[in-house]
Amino acid sequence: MSTMLKFQVDHLSFFYGAKRALTDVTLAIPERQITALIGPSGCGKSTFLRCLNRMNDTIHGTRAEGRVLLDDQDIYAPGTDVVDLRRRVGMVFQRPNPFPQSVFENVAFGPRVLGTTSRSELEGIVEASLRGADLWDEVKDGLKKDALSFSLGQQQRLCIARVIAVKPEVILMDEPCSALDPISTLRVEDLMRELARNYTIVIVTHNMQQASRASDTTAMMMLTDDRKSGTVIEVGETKQVFTKPQDKRTEGYVTGRYG
Ligand SMILES: Nc1ncnc2c1ncn2[C@@H]1O[C@H](COP(=O)(O)OP(=O)(O)O)[C@@H](O)[C@H]1O
Ligand SMILES: [Mg+2]
Repeated sequence: MSTMLKFQVDHLSFFYGAKRALTDVTLAIPERQITALIGPSGCGKSTFLRCLNRMNDTIHGTRAEGRVLLDDQDIYAPGTDVVDLRRRVGMVFQRPNPFPQSVFENVAFGPRVLGTTSRSELEGIVEASLRGADLWDEVKDGLKKDALSFSLGQQQRLCIARVIAVKPEVILMDEPCSALDPISTLRVEDLMRELARNYTIVIVTHNMQQASRASDTTAMMMLTDDRKSGTVIEVGETKQVFTKPQDKRTEGYVTGRYG
């Protein structure tokens, strides 16, 4: 099976000021698949995810070394349009973070910023995005309702709709279900599977069942031996990583011996 690669991360290291958070991460992320990042707290999973759309740039004093190729273009090269990068590579966070505005305004926000002004066009985008996020049937009669009046699971799917609305290529998800109940969690997992038909998905999860159920590829991160920064220690097809891990540390982690 030949798969296209969406990202090729090549010897990436990352620093918060003098503090090194990532060392020498090399990882290929297949297009239109789900890649899960797993590993103990503090090993740099969120940092790595934020390197993929340069969200870390918004933190003062940070610096990346190495290369991150998105469709063969180094996103850290001078002249990169970071605003467009973040449109192409959208992000969903741990806590649902809709704006305290209506459902409609939440989804229409991005397209408006990008210059869509026609009401009918916006309505079309809002409906398609809410359908794409498996939320339309639940909110179609309440598009003017405050987004915060919905359940957390619905709010998280709204945040996914908000990302879809600007036609991204990649959706990054940082523990998107950690605030959700088990039913809402399964709902988001089903949605991820559906989204992977059209988008490349990279998800950080603490939930081993979620990683093994929902992803195609799994990358295991750990602190380096000096325990000062994180790196990827193993990557492979999810089934293989969970059933026949190559690294003892991965085995210990996925079988729940530590984490
Ligand atoms: N904004 C920040 N400023 C300084 N250090 C940070 C910042 N965010 C994360 N770190 C540090 O980077 C390391 C990796 O953190 P993080 O990427 O959040 O790990 P994980 O998501 O795996 O729990 C930790 O040592 C953390 O304290
Ligand atoms: Mg994190």
